[in-house]
Amino acid sequence: MKFEIITIFPGMFNGLFSAGVIKKAVERGIVEIRVHDLRDYTTDKHRQVDDRPYGGLEGMVLKPEPIFRAVEGIKEPEGSVTCLLTPQGQKFDSKLAEKLAGYEQVLLICGRYEGVDERVIEHLVDEEISIGDYVLTGGELAAAVVVDAVSRFVPGVVGKEESVKHDSFAGGLLDFPQYTRPREFRGYRVPAVLFSGDHQKIARWRLKKALEKTLVRRPDLLESRRLSSEEEELLEEIKRERKKS
Ligand code: 6GU
Repeated sequence: MKFEIITIFPGMFNGLFSAGVIKKAVERGIVEIRVHDLRDYTTDKHRQVDDRPYGGLEGMVLKPEPIFRAVEGIKEPEGSVTCLLTPQGQKFDSKLAEKLAGYEQVLLICGRYEGVDERVIEHLVDEEISIGDYVLTGGELAAAVVVDAVSRFVPGVVGKEESVKHDSFAGGLLDFPQYTRPREFRGYRVPAVLFSGDHQKIARWRLKKALEKTLVRRPDLLESRRLSSEEEELLEEIKRERKKS
């Protein structure tokens, strides 16, 4: 799986992918990440990538020609998707990450300034993507987020493929709390159920904690989820307990 990042600030990606799981995936050849300087696709002496918007108002708009040249030079004829990182895009989530992981090549155009010439969006871009409801100075950090989240869905990137499936959002619930040694730290104790050795009891406790955290922080996730009978039962228990306290 190949990521092609098109940016006017290639330096922003220095070091970003040179640690941890993504670094390993790159070293093992499972994932390739290339950063392309948009200025390399200009043809004028000044290597101009932006210009003033028609119709007035301040700010600068990314010009269409360098972006078209870059995409046409980089894009493979098959298995490729072209994305624009912009606050106007659809909100990036686990489902979109999994979908993008199904392509062989993902082009990520980093938006900048007050915007990008609309002809890029109309005639070049397949997906406009935003990573959340706040405005960044540019799409670079968003592109890095997309590379990381999509890579986790590429087979072999995350240790056991199981763990991607068991993550918060794939399962639709937030994670249960985790503990490690020591059993007691500054008087704070690890819940006794975790060393009971009763794996069924532990599983039920974890599910209950996950349900409770999801209910409190992200009730929207519960609404869009089909609950098993055990989950229904635990949820009722949680609601009763919460009413009491
Ligand atoms: Cl993709 N770009 C910018 N500039 N701001 C954002 C964003 C993207 N996603 C959230 N805010």
